[in-house]
Amino acid sequence: MTVIAVIGSQWGDEGKGKAVDFLAERADYVARFNGGNNAGHTVINEYGAFKIHLVPSGIFAKNAVGLIGGGVVIDPAVLIEEIEMLNKAGVGVDGRLWVSPRSHLIMPYHKILDGLYEDAKGAGATGTTRRGIGPVFADKVSYNGIRWSDFASDAFESRLQMQLELKNKIILALGGEALKYEAVRDEYRGYYAKLKPYIRELFSMVQDGLKADKTFLLEQAMGTFLDTDWGTYPFVTASTTIPSAASAGLGIPPRYITNVVGVTKAYTTRVGAGPMPTEIHDTDSEAYKNFGEVAATTGRTRRVGWLDLELIKTAAQLSGMTEICLTKLDVLSGLKEIQVCVEYKLNGETVRYADVDAYGLDKVACVYETVPGWSEDISKAKSFDELPVNAQKYVKMVEEAAGVPVRWIGVGPARDETIRR
Ligand code: GDP
Ligand code: IMO
Ligand code: MG
Repeated sequence: MTVIAVIGSQWGDEGKGKAVDFLAERADYVARFNGGNNAGHTVINEYGAFKIHLVPSGIFAKNAVGLIGGGVVIDPAVLIEEIEMLNKAGVGVDGRLWVSPRSHLIMPYHKILDGLYEDAKGAGATGTTRRGIGPVFADKVSYNGIRWSDFASDAFESRLQMQLELKNKIILALGGEALKYEAVRDEYRGYYAKLKPYIRELFSMVQDGLKADKTFLLEQAMGTFLDTDWGTYPFVTASTTIPSAASAGLGIPPRYITNVVGVTKAYTTRVGAGPMPTEIHDTDSEAYKNFGEVAATTGRTRRVGWLDLELIKTAAQLSGMTEICLTKLDVLSGLKEIQVCVEYKLNGETVRYADVDAYGLDKVACVYETVPGWSEDISKAKSFDELPVNAQKYVKMVEEAAGVPVRWIGVGPARDETIRR
């Protein structure tokens, strides 16, 4: 059996969607196990260009079965829209996309509260996607959540009624508008009616697949340093993002995970607040202009910075990374010199990422190595040997620091703009 976890080694948006899309050709199951529609995964292939939030990005592989595990939180309207979009594009997901009845629902009050909390925190806000992620996971672990399985009995109605009594009090206290029980109930009953054909307990399917030696491709959402425990708390997301989350989130025993692919951007980006040691503030610099990106979910401008090898090394250690998919190498083309952070210093002493918290990380000084860039356009390169020598050296520097081989190199956003080593 092969169980491949694909995880981002930075602060999200490393190019996991693209990596999963091209790795899915040999997968029997493609699955999401954490997060929700705060994720925005870009896939560009023969079907078109997509920004996917909930359906596994490997769904384009026609023989793959898509699973949305119980560890994922679901905004039903977003899932319905995504299913319709994929079916319309000819991807055909019906009969091969299954949603765990254990997954929790993002309710209207979760989105309202996410916004009210952010507004109330002002300058201290997290910069969330405002999709209700923090509040829905808080409800999940405080036994206040609503799951798809609740529709099978009258638990949905009674739990919703109880939650609205509680939530409306908080919403009103924070200056928001109270929600009406009947309206929310009817709206969600409507969603359930549409999604019922996709909801199915995944336990036996997953167990049978493992026993039958099938290949599973597990797609993490967010990135290693947005993990609730190992990220830059409190500037994190509300779910576990390291590969162990696939165990609880899908019911796959941890020892069955055979490969961990660390999707690693050739530079660094971050959306939202929180420390970012290699951030570039000079908006006129060539690097800033080259690295510029727009967030797939919220349309915000991503913060950008140089590659931070201390982060990559830490991510490799934390997740037991077995190989790296290095993305966006093409974006570095044209820079005469490239800065790479090789170490952090705090008060003159070397510190590792894990030695400091988010506020400490904000104070570390990066030790940079300046490496020569390349001027050639590499987007048409098909093999490692075709890359300029300095680009090859850059790749080797990443694998040396991480202690993990770079097996794939992204030279463009489309599926086939990938070098396999
Ligand atoms: P994800 O959240 O990890 O799936 O990443 P996003 O889709 O949010 O952001 C990654 C962005 O980089 C998207 O716009 C992708 O189309 C793009 N991308 C991915 N790999 C490459 C690559 O190798 N080269 C270039 N130029 N773009 C890439
Ligand atoms: P993908 O899967 C980048 C960030 C938000 C914010 C913090 C908390 O596309 O890589 P949340 O809405 O989760 O409560 O916000 O986490 N964040 C992401 N940043 N990529 C993502 O997903 C993200 N999902 C959440 O910007 O800083
Ligand atoms: Mg993204």
